[in-house]
Amino acid sequence: MIEDVKLVSQKFDISNAHTLEVALLHGAYGSIEKLFALTPQEVSGIVDQSGLRGKGGGGASAGEKWKLMPLGEDKPSFLVVNCDESEPGTFKDRQIIIKDPHLLIEGIIATCYAIQAHHAYIYIRGEYKPFADILQGAIDEAYQAGYLGKGIFSKDFDVDVTIHRGAGAYICGEKSALLESLEGKRGHPRLKPHQKECEWYFGNPTLVNNVETIASVPYIVQNGSDAYRQYGTPQSPGTLLFALSGHVNRRGVYEAQFGIKMIDYINHYGGGIRGGKKLKAVIPGGASTTILRADEVMEARLDYESMRAMGSSLGTGGMIVMDEDTNMVEALKNLLEFYRHESCGQCTPCRDGSGWVDTIIGNLLKGKASMSDLDKTLAIANTMDGKTICVFAPALADVIRGFVTKFRSEFEAYIRKSKR
Ligand SMILES: Cc1cc2nc3c(=O)[nH]c(=O)nc-3n(C[C@H](O)[C@H](O)[C@H](O)COP(=O)(O)O)c2cc1C
Ligand code: SF4
Repeated sequence: MIEDVKLVSQKFDISNAHTLEVALLHGAYGSIEKLFALTPQEVSGIVDQSGLRGKGGGGASAGEKWKLMPLGEDKPSFLVVNCDESEPGTFKDRQIIIKDPHLLIEGIIATCYAIQAHHAYIYIRGEYKPFADILQGAIDEAYQAGYLGKGIFSKDFDVDVTIHRGAGAYICGEKSALLESLEGKRGHPRLKPHQKECEWYFGNPTLVNNVETIASVPYIVQNGSDAYRQYGTPQSPGTLLFALSGHVNRRGVYEAQFGIKMIDYINHYGGGIRGGKKLKAVIPGGASTTILRADEVMEARLDYESMRAMGSSLGTGGMIVMDEDTNMVEALKNLLEFYRHESCGQCTPCRDGSGWVDTIIGNLLKGKASMSDLDKTLAIANTMDGKTICVFAPALADVIRGFVTKFRSEFEAYIRKSKR
């Protein structure tokens, strides 16, 4: 039995909750009084104790990242909210910005206060223009109400928020590519520093967090870290807005606690597999995570540690469900075309490897590939690990290995058919 928990999606079913008037009737900005009664360090401490983890795919501890931001420096600090949301199968952040944008603004205010930043940028994918307009409407309302701008809520604290629209590149969701793009340059990921440090925007200390991570902050500030920890598991506390797509009866975005069984989630929220078909596989956390076979899905739990133990990852929590009729060779080809197109091209194993594997699988579909070509896809995937600037290529390697090793007989059947 699944207990419905709504910490971020409380107002999703209320009509017009994107307007300030309706949002206020339902508790919006309820954390602000408590926020300003605390010091910035206390706010960071509460978030750290809550165990909140980044919801953009990596699951990094939010508290640990916030602590990397220097307080009391001469240089200004910045908050950048990642709303690029281009990962196939992931469509949760847009629910927040269209259904409850004031929750995001409230989270931005709390986060800016904790890291002592006075300017936040929301980097939003170019294709989200209509959603960006709704968010801008909420930002305008917040300025008019004195919740944004100079001396917000009659306190000695200023916060400005600017939306920046991207131009449609998947790689601009990677935080350092995003910052390059925000600085007006080509969206290429930066080399990683040798030790842990904050991000840098025009040489100034910067925190980058996902939309849902920031939207989780008001609940934690208002109710405390223990309230958040009562949900989920000890290492993956709280909830996630899981997105469900593919061959289920009810596709959508439903918030749930970490740690519940994947199959229970699919049946409870998704209403089971469409047309009474059998389940074949699930891509668990956005396209860039290792596919799970039906038998693995039965065992899988929706938390970071369980998914890692299964050799996959929770990623963004965007589940793509595939029924027994799904052609795995065509499904992989579809994904490869995406990655080939979206590789930024800086690293040879990624730029050339993504194209080579796409070509081989294309040939396989046309009946022009051999068994050794199939092994070649795995050899190419192995060259992508640990040799590139960002994790785009290692993630793609996992995608290729997952499909080709777990569903190898389907790939071999194409080759055998063409030899007849
Ligand atoms: C190829 C690639 C694409 C990414 N796309 C997104 C994205 O669309 N949204 C997002 O929040 N994080 C994305 N990330 C993760 C970000 O780099 C970063 O870890 C995240 O924004 C940090 O926020 P969080 O700690 O709150 O999750 C992507 C990472 C990679 C490697
Ligand atoms: S791994 Fe791919 S996407 Fe990432 S920097 Fe290298 S070429 Fe660009």
